Amino acid sequence: MAQEYKLILKHADEPGYSRDIECYIRHGGYEALKKALAIAPKDLPDGKKLSPQEQIREDVKVSGLRGRGGAGFSCGLKWSFVDRKSGKPIYLICNADESEPGTFKDRQIMYKDPHQLIEGMAIACFANDVHLAYIYIRGEMVDGAKILNAALKEARAKGFLGKNILGKGYDLEIHVHRGAGAYICGEETGLIESLEGKRPYPRIKPPYFPAILGLWMCPTIVNNVETLCNIKHIVAMGAAEFAKLGTPNNTGTRIVSLSGHVKKPGYYEIEVGKATIGELINDPKFGGGLRDGRKLKAVIPGGSSAKVFKAGEKFKIKDKEVDMLDLPYDFDSLIAAGSMSGSSAIIVMDDSTDIVEALANVSEFYAHESCGQCTPCREGSLWMSKALHRLTHGEGRASDADYLVKIADNIPGGRTICAFGEACSWPVQSFVGKFKDEFVAKGKADEERRAKENIQPVKATPPERDELATAH
Ligand SMILES: Cc1cc2nc3c(=O)[nH]c(=O)nc-3n(C[C@H](O)[C@H](O)[C@H](O)COP(=O)(O)O)c2cc1C
Ligand code: SF4
Repeated sequence: MAQEYKLILKHADEPGYSRDIECYIRHGGYEALKKALAIAPKDLPDGKKLSPQEQIREDVKVSGLRGRGGAGFSCGLKWSFVDRKSGKPIYLICNADESEPGTFKDRQIMYKDPHQLIEGMAIACFANDVHLAYIYIRGEMVDGAKILNAALKEARAKGFLGKNILGKGYDLEIHVHRGAGAYICGEETGLIESLEGKRPYPRIKPPYFPAILGLWMCPTIVNNVETLCNIKHIVAMGAAEFAKLGTPNNTGTRIVSLSGHVKKPGYYEIEVGKATIGELINDPKFGGGLRDGRKLKAVIPGGSSAKVFKAGEKFKIKDKEVDMLDLPYDFDSLIAAGSMSGSSAIIVMDDSTDIVEALANVSEFYAHESCGQCTPCREGSLWMSKALHRLTHGEGRASDADYLVKIADNIPGGRTICAFGEACSWPVQSFVGKFKDEFVAKGKADEERRAKENIQPVKATPPERDELATAH
């Protein structure tokens, strides 16, 4: 039976728990930082020594921690790519942009338990020889920035930040930087450009891998808020204990943002893979089921860019047929089912949902948020949004479904600078792919109505199909 498991949110919602440093310390706060700074060099059998920093980095690898920001990339491996030989300073940036629609987990940590993030960052910085770090927070989170700045001030006053931390000869400063509120600022290289004071135009990789050429062209680590909090727990409990949480290759816990047509939308922390999508939606401990009298229609499992699942869909996983609702909520199972857990945001849609309207809403967001550098993304996201706009405003065509998929198929796959190309195409490919009849029916009904009323279709604003066909 699936249970909540509170590691990161252990105290945040406890009655009487406050975000001031005294409360955090009373609950064992900053003990993991003390432990990290007290680690002694370790002798290896070959006579070499492993520095305290190398030991923590090794522990993060052993823990199996995967990034909580979206891609689920191994944190230890990411840290191992950092260029430590360039002689340039190494920076760490906490990605607190939290902009993927449906996601509201990082803000729970920052608003309710900011010192947990600061402690996790301080240990991550120590382990990577970082002396200057940033928290890049979404501009709309005005209170979040204030809370973090107040917490940083408290940490400095107690000697957990600043010069010669806890008398151990380690210096670290952390600054809060407020973004201006654009989805693309969450993409790590766009974020870096923005932090440098420029437009958040993502950088091309190669050569601009942050671990080598990041902030100010120096080696830089970008990690999500929740990922960095986990560093504190890996040090506190030990990598092997941490790795026992969750399931193989999917270790630790995840905070799931659950929204849409469930009785109890909210955030729920679980051991990774120890609850299924169905349990998260229906179990009274989690979503509590659909609204009365409604049936499930679709689920977006990992934020708006994740491919949608249709109710009743079955997948072949490790030679077994698995219903969508029985998929364990972990990184690997969702990838195997053709989607992703992304930012761990589940959006539930019941049978009252107009799926064409839902996709039109998502696509309008992506058309608005494309930074515009790459033609396939800039033009494609807009064409898709315009086609969906006419489909939802009585101007649709039966052929719009194929038209949409044709555009979506021509955006991703190495044609764009960043993964936004995928993010704007996946919803269109999956919504239209799995609910094609609804798109066709809507377009057909519009055509029939126009024919009956003898109305000529408006000239499509996006290029006509023939023009599009020759464009590719
Ligand atoms: C368009 C786009 C938006 C993104 N938005 C966020 C975001 O809001 N927060 C976040 O942590 N990661 C976001 N990411 C992922 C980051 O680029 C990066 O992979 C992540 O911050 C790395 O942290 P992690 O390894 O700890 O997951 C986004 C990626 C893309 C392509
Ligand atoms: S894929 Fe889109 S968002 Fe990313 S750089 Fe290109 S135009 Fe900008």
